[in-house]
Amino acid sequence: MNINGRTAVYGIIGNPVEHTMSPAIHNHISQALGIDSVYVPFRADGNLENIVKGLYSLGVRGINVTVPYKTDIMRELIGVDDVAGAVGAVNTLKYTEKGFYGYNTDVMGLERELESEGISLSGRHVVILGAGGAARAAAFMCISKSPATLTIVNRTRAKAEDIRASLLAYARDNNAGITEDAVSTMEPSNITGLPGSGYIAFQCTKVGLYPDVDSCIINDEGFFEKTETGIDLIYKPETTLFMKRVMDSGGKAYNGLKMLVYQAVCSYEIWNGISVPENVAEDVYKILKGER
Ligand code: ATR
Repeated sequence: MNINGRTAVYGIIGNPVEHTMSPAIHNHISQALGIDSVYVPFRADGNLENIVKGLYSLGVRGINVTVPYKTDIMRELIGVDDVAGAVGAVNTLKYTEKGFYGYNTDVMGLERELESEGISLSGRHVVILGAGGAARAAAFMCISKSPATLTIVNRTRAKAEDIRASLLAYARDNNAGITEDAVSTMEPSNITGLPGSGYIAFQCTKVGLYPDVDSCIINDEGFFEKTETGIDLIYKPETTLFMKRVMDSGGKAYNGLKMLVYQAVCSYEIWNGISVPENVAEDVYKILKGER
């Protein structure tokens, strides 16, 4: 890497950021494409308004945003795109003449993971496990893909209901072609009652994340028999207990590493106005797989 006076600076803000893999991903893409830019972590602790103003004054071209700022950062921006607005979270800021503009590439990244694995949600029965920020992003991605039904399963049902209300409002405003009856909520303890089979399930909680590797959000065997495809947003460990249970019941399971790579690729594309070739994204994926 040859850093000079013209090198464009990008980075990630969050707290903590010590374990982020984003610099490895972005710097690899820049190197592979011969683009003169560098991406660094910024541990952001303090007044968010000052942090954003400082980054803008210094001409930082693009910023990724992680925990705990994905929602609060929205107040500091000149605007956000429709999906980020609907989800209520931003993970990508782009420098513009008037200030930073926000996007949500977590949603786009998950969409690209599904495309790359050849998974279509159209006409399918979809389950979202969890109702935090990650579940909300997954639910918004799903709603745009015309599933037959979408069930949000969460311990605190009110949070699932809250996502349902946002989804239905978004679907109404955007003619997303999903009816009120198609979107429902339930508690994990009632999952035995889930009708039918052939489900595509997204695991969007932290249950099962390293070092809590022996935990799984659902302990009902019947659910796994109904699940044809399981996507865990966790990527550490490589195979979670949730994924093992899906596979043991004859289903296919995927972790969240591709989503991580693709959310970075989508940010990179927004910032640079280019498309990152698939072979570069695949190389990044292989490197991270080895490094985790
Ligand atoms: P993120 O923004 O990363 O998605 P979050 O907002 O903390 O994280 O959301 C975590 C989700 O995992 C929530 O849906 C949470 O359930 P509650 O809404 O009931 O709190 C769920 N979750 C976390 N730990 C859990 C556990 N031990 N059992 C069941 N659900 C759990």
